[in-house]
Amino acid sequence: MNIAVIGAGTVGRTLARAWTRHGHHVTVGVRRPAAADIPAMAVSDALHGADAVLLAIPGAALTDLLDRHADALDGRLVLDATNRVGASTLHQVPEVAARLPAARLARAFCTVGWEVLADPVIGGEQADLVWCGPDGADGELVQILITDVGLRSVRVGGIEAADVVDGATRLWFALALGQGLGRHLGIRILRDA
Ligand SMILES: NC(=O)c1ccc[n+]([C@@H]2O[C@H](COP(=O)([O-])OP(=O)(O)OC[C@H]3O[C@@H](n4cnc5c(N)ncnc54)[C@H](OP(=O)(O)O)[C@@H]3O)[C@@H](O)[C@H]2O)c1
Repeated sequence: MNIAVIGAGTVGRTLARAWTRHGHHVTVGVRRPAAADIPAMAVSDALHGADAVLLAIPGAALTDLLDRHADALDGRLVLDATNRVGASTLHQVPEVAARLPAARLARAFCTVGWEVLADPVIGGEQADLVWCGPDGADGELVQILITDVGLRSVRVGGIEAADVVDGATRLWFALALGQGLGRHLGIRILRDA
């Protein structure tokens, strides 16, 4: 799969590394490629030909990204990992959907710390990744990207379930940071087989 990772911070570079290891063609898009300390290119170049796009920039930078690149993002499968920490919702789905009306939006990789994305086996158990977004062929692509990172995929519904996904993120914050359980903390959903 051709994957564009927008943002070369801890989340972007962790997922880019995992997907590259699994044979995907990953391009990392940044604002200043010359200043990047990993192979990276301009955002518009990274988006060219992408089957899926990961947004891994600060939540506060999303509007700026959309102002610059909405045309190139629209119509694509967009996995939004951003969190607008401190705002009433961590996601910005209504704003993103309004700017990218033809995009197939998912909220994924936003519910756990990057440490879990880098090392998803915790206490011998594979952590789950709670996400929402499209089903069908697009949903299968999202699931492949999740399982290739080593996480177990738990889809909670379409993109309208973004508040539910926010809830999982808030639970992670409350336990990992609020209760001091540490950032290498995963969530696992149990059910009868
Ligand atoms: N850290 C975690 O454990 C974690 C886990 C799950 C989700 N998240 C969420 O995922 C997102 C990324 O987190 P992170 O920890 O990887 O952030 P980070 O380490 O601060 O990196 C952010 C990246 O975004 C780039 N960026 C900033 N503004 C931009 C803009 N306007 N256009 C394009 N690129 C821009 C930065 O590049 P420059 O060098 O150009 O500034 C940097 O490469 C955040 O929304 C965060 O809330 C974080």
